[in-house]
Amino acid sequence: MSQLPYPKLTAEEAAAFIKHGQTVGFSGFTPAGTPKAIPTAIAKRAAAEHAAGRPFKIGVVTGASTGPSLDGELTKADAISFRTPYQTNNDLRKGINAGKVSFFDMHLSQLPQNVRYGFLGKVSVAVIEASDLTADGEIVLTAGVGATPTFAFLADQIIIELNSKHPKALRGFHDIYQPLDPPHRREIPIYKPSDRIGQPFVKVDPKKIVGYVETSLEDEARGFDAPDELTNKIGENVANFLAGEIKSGRIPKEFLPIQSGVGNIANAVLGALGTNPDIPKFEMYTEVIQNSVIDLLRSGKIKFASGSSLTITPETLQGIYDEIEFFRSRIVLRPQEISNHPEIARRIGIISINTAIEVDLFGNINSTHVMGKQLMNGIGGSGDFTRNAYISIFTCPSTAKDGKISTLVPFVSHQDHNEHSVQVVITENGVADLRGKSPRERANLLVDVCAHESYRDELRSYFANVKDGQTPQTLSKAFAMHEQFLKTGSMHGVNWA
Ligand code: COA
Repeated sequence: MSQLPYPKLTAEEAAAFIKHGQTVGFSGFTPAGTPKAIPTAIAKRAAAEHAAGRPFKIGVVTGASTGPSLDGELTKADAISFRTPYQTNNDLRKGINAGKVSFFDMHLSQLPQNVRYGFLGKVSVAVIEASDLTADGEIVLTAGVGATPTFAFLADQIIIELNSKHPKALRGFHDIYQPLDPPHRREIPIYKPSDRIGQPFVKVDPKKIVGYVETSLEDEARGFDAPDELTNKIGENVANFLAGEIKSGRIPKEFLPIQSGVGNIANAVLGALGTNPDIPKFEMYTEVIQNSVIDLLRSGKIKFASGSSLTITPETLQGIYDEIEFFRSRIVLRPQEISNHPEIARRIGIISINTAIEVDLFGNINSTHVMGKQLMNGIGGSGDFTRNAYISIFTCPSTAKDGKISTLVPFVSHQDHNEHSVQVVITENGVADLRGKSPRERANLLVDVCAHESYRDELRSYFANVKDGQTPQTLSKAFAMHEQFLKTGSMHGVNWA
């Protein structure tokens, strides 16, 4: 370490490089790979500047969500001028929904190229968490890649957070590749999840590295709720549906790579795929590798996992580091524009499984907003995969908030994925296979199979009397269930007359 030709800095000295008004690109994808010491020091600096009567806000661009040390601390210090492309932090979510933080929600595969195209303005500084760094500018990343290669490529100044919690032996887990931009772009030559096409490090001009900060801070990824009866039932329905598709020959018998979303339900779905004897061993081509994937890699049910991050609890991450040679040949971490690339998703035929907040009777999906206006997390990679999948699946429980909300609604209050991209909807009650069905057929199927029984008659009342039109909508009643909830605290009891 002592031979490194870069200044060794404290986090506070590193934060002093960041100027009010700049846009900063932070490494990582979810809390995995995200710097922790420097963002916290930037937040302290912002608070001090504000106390002295001076403005201090920066644009914050990351791969996806981050941990509390970044989004939480910078929000609390009122230090964010704009934020993209995804978030899961409570403080930030509150700031966004209160209209205090300007946030825009983007398809994660598009973030790096949009930054390179200049759509988000200049990214002046890149702050990058690394497990190793060399004198000639090789940066070996940690548990997440995200948009780091793009930020490193564009930024004038690079600050490294060298984190000893991540071993130098991580070299080789990452596959760093940045496509050329149009009109020079070529095909991305990935034909199976385990293909490697790039370098094991991010290579930068060493002159851009203004210094490094040594830390040993743990990743801030949280665990998920243990699967319960309901999420297990959803998982079982997904696994049985896919087993049936293999049996029928609609999915090749050797199976296809799985993409699985984030959250409690996604974790339970993977668990169910793991235990179903009719699901063959499979590979993942996904963005976030969650705890359940690691268990299934160990058991051999998952043969290989390609993703942009290891979004797993610190204990599970340590387990990987303890058996690093076992996992080296089973995991690859890629930039998000490759892990989520539409070209690859379409070519290798991924089966996408993502979670909805609400689904409407025609197969449109809301993944991001509660009651049409409160942002939950963001679209993440769900659009990248859904639109390009071999089969696209959405899962959700049939109700939320103790049954007071039906997740099946006449019309989604915010639309992220539309009826043209969504093929299968699965709740704890069953599987609605929407392929080849008209909007009227879809509405009947979704109500009969997926809706909670206490909402079935209400939902039928919505479209039963609409005689004309390809899609049986009644605009004046499209949000009647949402309005009923906002008025009474329950979606039950709408007057459909
Ligand atoms: N109305 C109001 N709240 C709802 C709701 C609805 N229709 N549906 C879900 N919720 C709430 C739940 O009650 C829960 O709230 P809580 O945190 O206060 O308990 C919260 O949303 C999360 O729901 P949960 O059932 O625990 O599911 P989850 O952890 O699997 O998350 C999403 C579900 C949709 C929020 C999450 O998957 C997501 O952000 N998806 C979008 C991004 C994405 O798909 N990325 C993957 C691409 S690879």
